[in-house]
Amino acid sequence: MKILVVGGGGREHAVIKALRKNPAVDTVYALPGNGGMADDAVCVPIGATDIPAIVGFAAEHKVDYAVVTPDDPLALGCVDELEKIGVPCFGPRKNAAIIEASKAFSKSLMKKYRIPTAAHRTFTRMDEAIKYVEKMGAPIVVKADGLALGKGVTVARTVAEAKDAIREMMEGGKFGASGSTVVIEEYLEGPEVSVLSFTDGNTVVPMVSSMDHKRAGDGDTGPNTGGMGTVAPNPYYTPEVAEKCMREIFIPTIKAMNAEGRTFKGCLYFGLMITQDGPKVIEYNCRFGDPETQVVLPLLESDLLTVMRAVTDGRLAETEVKFSDKSACCVVLASKGYPVKYQSGCEIVLPETGENREIFVAGAEKRDGRLLSHGGRVLGCVAVENTLEDAVRGAYDLADRVKFDNGFCRRDIGKRALDALKK
Ligand code: AMP
Ligand code: GLY
Repeated sequence: MKILVVGGGGREHAVIKALRKNPAVDTVYALPGNGGMADDAVCVPIGATDIPAIVGFAAEHKVDYAVVTPDDPLALGCVDELEKIGVPCFGPRKNAAIIEASKAFSKSLMKKYRIPTAAHRTFTRMDEAIKYVEKMGAPIVVKADGLALGKGVTVARTVAEAKDAIREMMEGGKFGASGSTVVIEEYLEGPEVSVLSFTDGNTVVPMVSSMDHKRAGDGDTGPNTGGMGTVAPNPYYTPEVAEKCMREIFIPTIKAMNAEGRTFKGCLYFGLMITQDGPKVIEYNCRFGDPETQVVLPLLESDLLTVMRAVTDGRLAETEVKFSDKSACCVVLASKGYPVKYQSGCEIVLPETGENREIFVAGAEKRDGRLLSHGGRVLGCVAVENTLEDAVRGAYDLADRVKFDNGFCRRDIGKRALDALKK
C-alpha cells in the first residue's frame, strides 16, 4: 500500500511511524516531510498547502490512502479535492474543518447546541469590541477569528491589555484576515486537558488524554509556543470528568456537526478546561495536536491504519481502539530563542533510542549526511513507561543525550501532572 501524509512536523513523524507498523504499508510519502524523517518516509518537496500539487502527486503515484494532518490544508479543502480523484482520506472535509478554522463558527455552534464553553461575543467592529471589554472588565480573553498558528489568543489581565489586543488584531493587521473578526470571551480558570478523538461522524472514540505545556519557559512563563512538551494520560481527566465530557461535550458536538450538515470525520481535538462548574471547551482543533500526538500514538495498541480506515469508511463502532495503560512524556528540543528569533542550520547528533523511546523530528534537514536544525521546534524526545514519573525521567534522559548545542528545552515538563498525582 502507498500512503500519502500531508505535513512535515513532529506530529506527522509520529503518525508515519505508527502507520508503518502495519505490514501492508510499503511506502509512505510525506509532503513535504522533513529531512529528519527520511528513514521512515519518502519526503517530497511539495508544501502542505499546495493542494493542486498534492492532488497531482497522489494521482501520478496512485496512492491508496491519504492522511491530512495540518490545519491549513484541511481548512483549504485538501480532503475534498483528494476525494474527488478517488483517494480515500483521513481528515475532515472543508465544511467540517471550519470547527477549528473559525472561532466565531465554533463558539456559535456551542451556544446553539448548549455545549459548555466560556460565554462570548463576536465582533467585526472595533469600537463595539472595545466598548464591550470596558463594560465587562478584566481578566478577559480576546481571540482572532481565524487560524493564527495558535498565537491569536490574548488572555488579558487588564482592560488596557485587552484593548491593545483588539487594536492590534483589528487595526494592526497582525493576523491579516484572521483578525478582522474577534471573539471576546469570559475568562475561565482550571487545569487544561487535551482529548484527541477518532470520529466517523456517528461514533466518537476518545484517545488517551494528554497535557500540553504551551509557554516557552519553566513554570509557564514566557511567550506562547506551539507546545514545548506533553504528558499522557492527564491526571486531571478522571473517569468522572471523562464520563461528563462524553455526555455533555463529545457526543453533542458530533451530533451538532451532523445537524449543521457538516459531518466531521477524522481526529477531532477537544481542548478542555476543567472548571469549578465542570469541563468546558476552550477550543476545537480539526486534527491531531502537536505535540500531543507524540505521546498519544505511542500508547495506541491497536493498528493506526486500521482505525483510520474504519473512520473513513464509517465503521468505527465495530473497530477496536485500544490504548495501553502506561504513561508517556514528550520533551521538545527547540532552537534557542524560539518562538521569537532563532537560528537554523545547527548540527544535531541523535543518540541510540532503544526500547520504549522515540525521537520524532519536527524541524530538520539532511545535508551531506549531517542532520541540521530547520525551524523553531526541532525534536520531540519521547519515553513510555509504567509510571508517569519514569516516563518523565526517561524523556529527559533521552533529551539530554541529544547533541544539539543550539537547542533548549523546558526542564519542568510533567511537573504539574506529577504534583497533581501526589495530591
Ligand atoms: P486557544 O488557542 O483557544 O487554545 O487558546 C490558547 C490558550 O489560551 C489556551 O490553551 C488557554 O490556556 C488560554 N485560554 C483560551 N481561552 C481561555 C479562556 N476563556 N479563559 C482562560 N484562558 C483561556
Ligand atoms: N498543541 C496544541 C495544538 O496542536 O494546537
